Amino acid sequence: MAAIDSLSIIISNEWVNDEYKHLIVKVNTPALTVEPGQFFNLLCPQSEADKPFFRRPMSTYFADPVSGTIEFLYKVVGSGTRTLAKLQTGDTLPILGPLGKGFTIKDHYQHILVVGRGVGLATLAPLAEAAVAKKIKVTAILSARDQNSLMSQHRFHNIHANVIEVIDSNHSSKIENVEKLIIKQHKIMPFDAVYTCGSTRITTLLRRIAMEFNLDGQVALEQHMACGLGMCYCCVKPFNVTTGTQTELRNKRVCVDGPVFDIKEFIA
Ligand SMILES: Cc1cc2nc3c(=O)[nH]c(=O)nc-3n(C[C@H](O)[C@H](O)[C@H](O)COP(=O)(O)OP(=O)(O)OC[C@H]3O[C@@H](n4cnc5c(N)ncnc54)[C@H](O)[C@@H]3O)c2cc1C
Ligand code: FES
Repeated sequence: MAAIDSLSIIISNEWVNDEYKHLIVKVNTPALTVEPGQFFNLLCPQSEADKPFFRRPMSTYFADPVSGTIEFLYKVVGSGTRTLAKLQTGDTLPILGPLGKGFTIKDHYQHILVVGRGVGLATLAPLAEAAVAKKIKVTAILSARDQNSLMSQHRFHNIHANVIEVIDSNHSSKIENVEKLIIKQHKIMPFDAVYTCGSTRITTLLRRIAMEFNLDGQVALEQHMACGLGMCYCCVKPFNVTTGTQTELRNKRVCVDGPVFDIKEFIA
């Protein structure tokens, strides 16, 4: 559906842990259908200390087309997210979206793998739910610094995904260990496709596994953006695009050609 610039109303904006906030807004646009992986460009407010100029892109954590509720899970890192963090219930926030191309889940899939870390889970939770709605089994590897930093497990448990948690503090999140876990799960029940978001190390691993086992795969990329609409070209990245037997380097705009891309095209 076409992007709409809506003046949303803040329903709540609560801390999830010391770094992340969960923002729930409501828009009046009925039937605002958002695909997993699509994002909104948020016009963060200005404060005395922070004056963010461009909008800030945020993946949709949850969207209910009937009630008009849209949720975001965001890490407070700089001027835009700092002013976003100050918004109170009843305040307004202009949001433009849904933007970009979301994930593809093919009907014939029986089992998919999602691997996410930190805020990447904001993008992958709706994908996992959409897969389960199509009766596809989901294995989710959730990675974080420590047990307290793990987020969104409930979203994956609620849909009866096979959830595997890995953390830095006991070294279970090491990339070699994640690789072993994936291969073990693939032997138990083969994956048709693998999905991830954000982390270059995880994406590189999943690209290798997708190529080795001939699996489909997609990655949602995060890139600095300005317009979010394909006009300014500030989000361009090179990709390895294969057509037939030919592979060529091609520049693509993450905002409109993505943010979701074929994982085999990804260049670290
Ligand atoms: C399609 C898309 C979806 C995203 N979804 C989410 C989400 O669901 N939750 C979330 O917390 N963040 C998400 N991001 C990243 C988010 O847009 C940035 O964290 C945000 O713009 C930072 O703004 P700021 O003004 O607070 O920080 P800034 O002051 O602009 O930057 C602070 C730090 O964050 C880094 N940064 C800024 N923008 C980006 C970016 N686009 N990607 C990676 N690093 C960035 C900067 O390099 C700097 O180190 C997404 C980005 C994209 C492109
Ligand atoms: S952000 Fe302007 S073209 Fe992508």
